[in-house]
Amino acid sequence: MGSVGRRRKDEVIKLFGERVSPAKVRFFTAVGLDFVPGRREGVWYWDLDGRKLMDCHCNGGVFNLGHRHPEIVRRLREAVEEVDIGNHHLISEHRAVLAEKLTDTMPGDINRVVFGVGGGEAVDFAIKLARGHTKRKKIVYAKGGYHGHTGFTLAAGDEKYRKPFEPLAPGFVEVPFGNFDSLEKAVDKDTAAVLFETIPATLGMPLPPPEFYKMVREFCDERGALMIMDEVQTGLGRTGKMGYRALPRHSRCNCHVEGTFRRSLSNFCNMLQRGLG
Ligand SMILES: Cc1ncc(COP(=O)(O)O)c(C=O)c1O
Repeated sequence: MGSVGRRRKDEVIKLFGERVSPAKVRFFTAVGLDFVPGRREGVWYWDLDGRKLMDCHCNGGVFNLGHRHPEIVRRLREAVEEVDIGNHHLISEHRAVLAEKLTDTMPGDINRVVFGVGGGEAVDFAIKLARGHTKRKKIVYAKGGYHGHTGFTLAAGDEKYRKPFEPLAPGFVEVPFGNFDSLEKAVDKDTAAVLFETIPATLGMPLPPPEFYKMVREFCDERGALMIMDEVQTGLGRTGKMGYRALPRHSRCNCHVEGTFRRSLSNFCNMLQRGLG
């Protein structure tokens, strides 16, 4: 027997409630979403009780290539025959090659990759890089964006997420999304970076005015601040194009800190780099 279907659905729900999260079980049961993914293939999921559903959720961009894409499965199988988790301190052929492939898709002078395990970590890192590089402190971010639940990202997030964990890191200033005048007022000589979720999902996926990111880019250059684009959701082709290329052509000037692709990468590259370092 494989790893799916060893237990009945009601047993799994009970165990999950006892050992992981009773609140989640209560919520999903109450709203009729007590679905437990069993078999999965392409665009399809099968509930442990046998119901077949099309996966339109995509797990926030994780399954851009569908479930268990045969080519990915084949490559992973091949790889684990040869290598193991590796040593994260040492130089790695696999990370070097993956970084080359990724940066070859990037515009301008973006030519380095920092591998992380999640979106929040990626944005935290971008903020650290911005503060370290500019020696400035202030981070200006847009209301309604979601960047994760790690340290700095909480400080750049909605009040309802950050409130329970205060006091958070200081130096974060909120502006309305897509409003250049407010941004202009907020960015000063102590601003390390401005941070945007390219198309903010939790805000209802609004697009900013057509010239907006171009103006932000030029304004940041003028003020010596960096521009961080959180592309955890939009990154790997979810707008029909690779990350940065989803922006209007004229906005494609170099981002100093860009590309926090995660979700889709986790479907293949992240697994490769973590497992086959
Ligand atoms: C735009 C964006 N940034 C950051 C994150 C945080 O990613 P993670 O949950 O992997 O930390 C998410 C998660 O959904 C996201 O949608």
